[in-house]
Amino acid sequence: MRAVEFQEYGGPEVLKVVEAEVPEPGPGQVSVDVAYTGVNFADLKARGEGYRVPRLPFVPGLEVSGRIRATGEGVTGLSAGQEVTALTDSGGYADVALADAATVFPVPAGLDLRTAATLPTVLPTAYALVHAVGRLQPGESVLVQGAAGGVGTVVGQLARAAGAGAVYGVVSGGAKAAYAREHGYDEVFVGAFTEAVRAATGGRGVDLALDPVGGETFRDSLASLAVFGRLVSFGNASSAPAWSVGQPELYPSGISVGGFSILTLAATAPDELRTLAERAFAKVADGTVSLPVTAEFALEEAAEAHRLMGTRTSTGKLLLRVNA
Ligand SMILES: NC(=O)c1ccc[n+]([C@@H]2O[C@H](COP(=O)([O-])OP(=O)(O)OC[C@H]3O[C@@H](n4cnc5c(N)ncnc54)[C@H](OP(=O)(O)O)[C@@H]3O)[C@@H](O)[C@H]2O)c1
Repeated sequence: MRAVEFQEYGGPEVLKVVEAEVPEPGPGQVSVDVAYTGVNFADLKARGEGYRVPRLPFVPGLEVSGRIRATGEGVTGLSAGQEVTALTDSGGYADVALADAATVFPVPAGLDLRTAATLPTVLPTAYALVHAVGRLQPGESVLVQGAAGGVGTVVGQLARAAGAGAVYGVVSGGAKAAYAREHGYDEVFVGAFTEAVRAATGGRGVDLALDPVGGETFRDSLASLAVFGRLVSFGNASSAPAWSVGQPELYPSGISVGGFSILTLAATAPDELRTLAERAFAKVADGTVSLPVTAEFALEEAAEAHRLMGTRTSTGKLLLRVNA
């Protein structure tokens, strides 16, 4: 089978198409004949700096849609030929991918395999940020970094559907700002945002800030919170040193900081992830949320997809077409 792997860390050019053995599912796993695979920012971090890469060579890819090829020992409720969408720990950039049965989901009614490939990472993550961790209440305001990206596109719509009083986004360019405004955001700031947030909220700050960037952006997001505000950290796009927060920052205004990682949750509490995923997928199936596929590449063109996302010009979701 074909797989796209990297044998060293570096730019998009280190992604190589290779011939690989078809993987066989172990106990509790299924193998999937991949139709589409989603491109995530985490794939770029894996390729560039070894994020969650246990050893080289490494086949990236955290999510696929397709048909079940084979089921491993002990798997129940899933069968060969069934159309599914799956969170994979890695290995999605290939003709056949393995996934733990706990993170394999039937394609929701009414959705095709192309749309299904956009669901596994972004939808549960966005749902957790708004609801499970962010605990957004009707009327509250929310500030979202990377508002035009995969997670950002869905968070804006989910926050609006949850009755947010105001949904603010931050992006790196004007075209992204226009896109985010079309996807649930009331106001979108380009670049620096702390003063703009204070101005937009009459000096009060926001109730919830969602940060996938880290470093200075994390600090600025913290400084943008209202009294009793919450910040949820869910990434480190800036590759800054890990943040830490203590009493001096938290006590004065009663603010709190939380975190979320879908891959860690999948490994530690798969039942919680399933609940999140089912609730989140229902929001796509009922039309509350849409995640536009703005660029699609053949599997062999994975490096092009990485270049597009890496130049910070992509919006919405990027997909690789594997065996559509
Ligand atoms: N914790 C979790 O469970 C989880 C799950 C999924 C995704 N994530 C994180 O959520 C973020 C979005 O992921 P995605 O796959 O949907 O990607 P994406 O948003 O479609 O694309 C990457 C995003 O990162 C931002 N970005 C790129 N380079 C950056 C840099 N050097 N500094 C600051 N921002 C940068 C871009 O926003 P601008 O160009 O507009 O700044 C862009 O929105 C990523 O940080 C990812 O790691 C976390």
